[in-house]
Amino acid sequence: MTLVNVAFTVWVLTANLDWLLPGASNTASDTAYSIDGLFKFMAVFCFAICIYVNGYVLYFAIVFRRRRGEAADTIGVQVHDMPKLEFWWTAIPTVLLVILMIYSYVVWRQIYFPPTAAALTTEVIGHQFNWEFRYPGLKGSVFNEMHLPVGQPVRVLITSGDVIHQFWIPEFRVKTAAVPGLVTDLNFTPSHAGTYTVSCSEYCGVNHSKMQAKLVVEEPAAFDKWLAQEATATAQAAPAIALASGNAAAGKALFAQKCTVCHAIAPFDQKVVGPGLLHITDDPQHPNLVDNKPPTPDDIAEILEKGFTGPIGTMPDRQANALSDTDIANLVAYLTSLK
Ligand code: CUA
Repeated sequence: MTLVNVAFTVWVLTANLDWLLPGASNTASDTAYSIDGLFKFMAVFCFAICIYVNGYVLYFAIVFRRRRGEAADTIGVQVHDMPKLEFWWTAIPTVLLVILMIYSYVVWRQIYFPPTAAALTTEVIGHQFNWEFRYPGLKGSVFNEMHLPVGQPVRVLITSGDVIHQFWIPEFRVKTAAVPGLVTDLNFTPSHAGTYTVSCSEYCGVNHSKMQAKLVVEEPAAFDKWLAQEATATAQAAPAIALASGNAAAGKALFAQKCTVCHAIAPFDQKVVGPGLLHITDDPQHPNLVDNKPPTPDDIAEILEKGFTGPIGTMPDRQANALSDTDIANLVAYLTSLK
């Protein structure tokens, strides 16, 4: 038994476990290193307990079996009270569990508590069925592609725009639920450049299995270059409309003409087809953004431009509604004037 146990321990601590723990040989993040350490610690001690308990069960079953010629109701040797043994089989697991508790807490703290060192903060929002990533300095979001610099602490804030998803990077050993209305903190440092996959690991609808994003971990210089590119791309994607020049009266006339088919000037939960828009910027019923702030004029303009598809319905974009830049500015002026 001891031999099997020693062999297993040596194997767990030294073998290449990539088939069991993806990327274990070139640990992709500091969290992967900690989680694998915890896994190996548990594997070694659980295996020892498993081997000795089952080994003795087998051993006793053989040694104290009913011998040929003994009656079926023969009673074997009766043993009562073995305080020494009882002490040790209580004390050893207790000590192991306490060590495991402390060890787990240290690892858990490392992952779920904000780091003290300056970290790159990104926001992740799960949608049916794509991943949205927000970066500091970017006007727009990046979809289904995440980039991170190697060797730099990262803080990821995770939430969902609709149902519960699960943010999972197998090589990093990080996995956290994306829950609507809740922002979860995840901290790690990618330690190996490469391409990985962010998967959704919580069933969230028909296209759950396709809900994957590419994760590129690259040198800081390459990352900065990518971020600068995205800054240009997202700025171009949303050309700024001069919202300040909007005319609320003209917006009101246009709203009566184009929008009242679907929207009432009423509280958010009073729907016609779409929600009521009376207090759009400060309605407590309004679904807040990830940073818990009410929509800004820019957010309203963006929905008017790009349309909207979500659990509360679908709104066509500006082409379908035939809205000019001036129309959008006027509508925003009108909607933000309603208080
Ligand atoms: Cu999102 Cu499964």
